Amino acid sequence: MSLFPETRLRRLRRTPALRRAFAETSLRPSDLIAPVFLKEGIDQPIDIASMPGHKQHTLESLTKEARELASLGVAGVILFGIPAHKDEEGSGAWQRDGIVQRGLRALKDELGNETLVIADLCLCEYTDHGHCGILKGSEVDNDPTLDAYARVALSQAEAGADIVAPSGMMDGQVGAIRGALDTDGFEETPILAYACKYASSFYGPFREAAEGAPRFGDRRSYQQDPPNRAEALREAELDIAEGADVLMVKPALPYLDVLSAVKERFAYPTAAYNVSGEYSMLIAAAERGWLDERAATLEALTSIRRAGADLIVTYHAKKAAGWLT
Ligand code: PBG
Repeated sequence: MSLFPETRLRRLRRTPALRRAFAETSLRPSDLIAPVFLKEGIDQPIDIASMPGHKQHTLESLTKEARELASLGVAGVILFGIPAHKDEEGSGAWQRDGIVQRGLRALKDELGNETLVIADLCLCEYTDHGHCGILKGSEVDNDPTLDAYARVALSQAEAGADIVAPSGMMDGQVGAIRGALDTDGFEETPILAYACKYASSFYGPFREAAEGAPRFGDRRSYQQDPPNRAEALREAELDIAEGADVLMVKPALPYLDVLSAVKERFAYPTAAYNVSGEYSMLIAAAERGWLDERAATLEALTSIRRAGADLIVTYHAKKAAGWLT
């Protein structure tokens, strides 16, 4: 290996054209998925205070937003529903004409196969206690929750979801959903598994947006413990064995090491969820003039791609796509 002064790494950094030609990582609108919120029973969209630029949508404003995202070249949307009524079991999550099912149909009608319409699959927005599954006492009971997830998956696939994305972190959820989909003729519906999802404090703004905060306790008995990386690889391995088509790591920026390990180990289609708290803290700093929003956003998203994400679920999607086109 030749050393300095023969070798000078600055040579390839000197001009924008050189830097562009030798960039190792790309970032395009088609790498991005936008999370969107649909609320039942409102006739005007409602701003989400903790997430500037985002709204709880009506069906009408949702389809308009999705059309705009599609025209910017964004890969797709992931839809979260906020029902007017919640119950103990979260039964609103699997109603044929539930809020998410209506949203999925409207989006597919509007967009056809132009853009991906992904359905987040969980119960926390639908249960009156705000946990991601069926309770036994004050614990989330794993196995009965799987039956509920299977019903949700079928109702979402039937409503036209291009992909279902289970986010509840129950053991066996991917297998249960795959089994149900295959039995009912949805063997072509892919599963994007929230494979490595941590019990993170960065979900705070989302819980306001989706009205899904737990009424008591926290999610630490089902979501992963932040210190653990080997465990994340076991989660990913099990999800692959159960039939996951895409693996997702969540959050993104504080867990880039996990993302990188998952991509390297399994070489699977891999996504990362750049979560609400990651978004809000960047926007808050930008609003104070402490960060340049555009530069910081594009750097953060590029770093998630560099760590191994094929797809990034991000609240920055719309603005970033605008900057990238
Ligand atoms: C629901 C779900 C959550 C997020 C996505 N799906 C919240 C949670 O687990 O508490 C968080 C997304 C974000 O913060 O952007 N299971």
